[in-house]
Amino acid sequence: MDLMEYQAKELFAKHGVTTTLGVVVETAEEARAAAEQLGGVTVVKAQVKAGGRGKAGGVKLAKTADEAFEHASNILGMEIKGLTVNRVLITPATPPEEEYYFSFLLDRSNRQYLCIASVEGGVEIEEVAKTNPDAVKKVAIDPGAGVDAAKAREIATEAAFPEPVFEQAVTMIEQLFKVFVEEDATLVEVNPLARLEGDKLEALDGKVSLDDNASEVRHPDHEQFVIREEADPLEAKAKDLGLNYVKLDGQVGIIGNGAGLVMSTLDVVAYAGEDHGGVKPANFLDIGGGANAEVMANGLDVILNDEQVKSVFVNVFGGITACDEVAKGIVGALELLGDAASKPLVVRLDGNNVDLGRQILAEANHPLVTLVDTMDGAADKAAELANV
Ligand SMILES: Nc1ncnc2c1ncn2[C@@H]1O[C@H](COP(=O)(O)OP(=O)(O)O)[C@@H](O)[C@H]1O
Ligand SMILES: [Mg+2]
Repeated sequence: MDLMEYQAKELFAKHGVTTTLGVVVETAEEARAAAEQLGGVTVVKAQVKAGGRGKAGGVKLAKTADEAFEHASNILGMEIKGLTVNRVLITPATPPEEEYYFSFLLDRSNRQYLCIASVEGGVEIEEVAKTNPDAVKKVAIDPGAGVDAAKAREIATEAAFPEPVFEQAVTMIEQLFKVFVEEDATLVEVNPLARLEGDKLEALDGKVSLDDNASEVRHPDHEQFVIREEADPLEAKAKDLGLNYVKLDGQVGIIGNGAGLVMSTLDVVAYAGEDHGGVKPANFLDIGGGANAEVMANGLDVILNDEQVKSVFVNVFGGITACDEVAKGIVGALELLGDAASKPLVVRLDGNNVDLGRQILAEANHPLVTLVDTMDGAADKAAELANV
């Protein structure tokens, strides 16, 4: 899960990182009130899960509360990188004298953590890396050893933080590493890490990605960061049902068992779609090994509620859960759904007890179900039915 700036800053504050929380609001009126309450010059900042908000016009200085109102009216509803701005952060304006870049991330390919730091912050780090690669310092971190005071000092030295803020940088590096490890993050980024008036170091922006695999068991508190209305409604519903679902931008709904089979089903459908008006897979949905009627019904329910979906391809390879069980699951699911099942289903079954499975579906003789024996044939049929 990626966090918004204001949420990232909450985690920063929790671990002692110097930052200013500000006030998050959803209307221009509330923005005015927040600016009044803070007093002085404020900054109105779009809260969306995307970088480059400043460049897109989503970060504005406001000298007065009325100006904060004006900016908030313009920024709320604005689109930044395809994301609608539904809330803004009102925070005191603290003009940076210098802007640095700092991040910890998971370096999967090298099985370690990586720290990236640069005293040339503020702009996007990819740009600095291109125009002035020597200014971007990378320090590998052994996950077993982590970052203690000595390692933090090594990083600060490598990044060449200037003397007046050096000790603050060392402290902040240690604290940011706590955010990274203790919150089970895969990314903690501060850009800008700003040197303010009086040589005060502060995290003016924050980006944190949390590892969802750690959320449920290790961090039930992270649930507070889920913003319901920002989530895709189908993905939210699937999540509530415990389904492994990802919405895509196509017309053929996909249900399969096993991530590998589902991935190849997406490929086969995309390929078949080329002969049928360019239709594409509408989702990824892996119902896993034990696909009983209820799981099948839940999966179908989510997919059939996707307005873009015109047909559904159920591609199951019977293993431990044999094809006859899966077939009963499909029949049961269609019964459970009743009239809600309104789109053609193409079913391909193979594997353990395939003959019995096909027989069960043939006997049920549901008007919406077409049985096809091969994966390519079924993909072609599903694509054809979606091309309407
Ligand atoms: N509280 C603040 N006071 C003054 N300037 C700010 C403040 N917050 C951000 N800025 C300026 O706006 C720029 C962009 O803001 P930032 O939060 O980094 O958003 P983004 O990275 O999405 O563009 C920063 O680099 C900084 O120069
Ligand atoms: Mg930034």
